[in-house]
Amino acid sequence: MAERLFFALWPERKVRDKLARLARSLNNGNGRIHNPHDLHITLVFLGQVEASRLPCVHDVADNIVSSPFTLQMDGIGHWPRPRILWCGPSGQPEALQRLVKDLQQGLQDCGFEPETRRYTPHVTLQRKVRHAEAGVIDNPIEWPAKEFVLAASGGGAPDQPRYRILHRWSLRLN
Ligand code: 2AM
Repeated sequence: MAERLFFALWPERKVRDKLARLARSLNNGNGRIHNPHDLHITLVFLGQVEASRLPCVHDVADNIVSSPFTLQMDGIGHWPRPRILWCGPSGQPEALQRLVKDLQQGLQDCGFEPETRRYTPHVTLQRKVRHAEAGVIDNPIEWPAKEFVLAASGGGAPDQPRYRILHRWSLRLN
């Protein structure tokens, strides 16, 4: 069986609450707010993955060596094509860039297609947003990243989280 998978940073409760508050406060009248339990930053999107490929995917994550890092979530953006309103860090710590690169390289070694698009870390706050202003968050949300996860799409009922965490890995140097 295949599942739609992605590696991601998942916020701890305090950060999740702040992001959820921010998502609710951006009331532009035309968006659908994400379930707080779905708030995350995708690191690498894998697409549909057959179960037989999971051991290689897990090996890639097992071999990641990375220090923890902190993101300053200080910007709001809007992408008109996917119609999402998001927030993200204006700067990318080197450890984040390396983590993404190492995951991409490892997945390529497993036979996944290389990612061609530039990486833009972001948390989708609202979907189906037709128009919105980009902006700066006056009090940036500090996000200490101590772990990353493998997650699957596949929520069921409306209003329920649409993503499931399958496995967690600590960010550590040894
Ligand atoms: P989004 O929030 O910007 O839509 C699960 O769908 C996660 O994977 C979401 O974070 C989503 O980003 C991301 N995602 C979905 N399709 C993608 C794609 N083709 N390339 C990169 N990321 C994707």
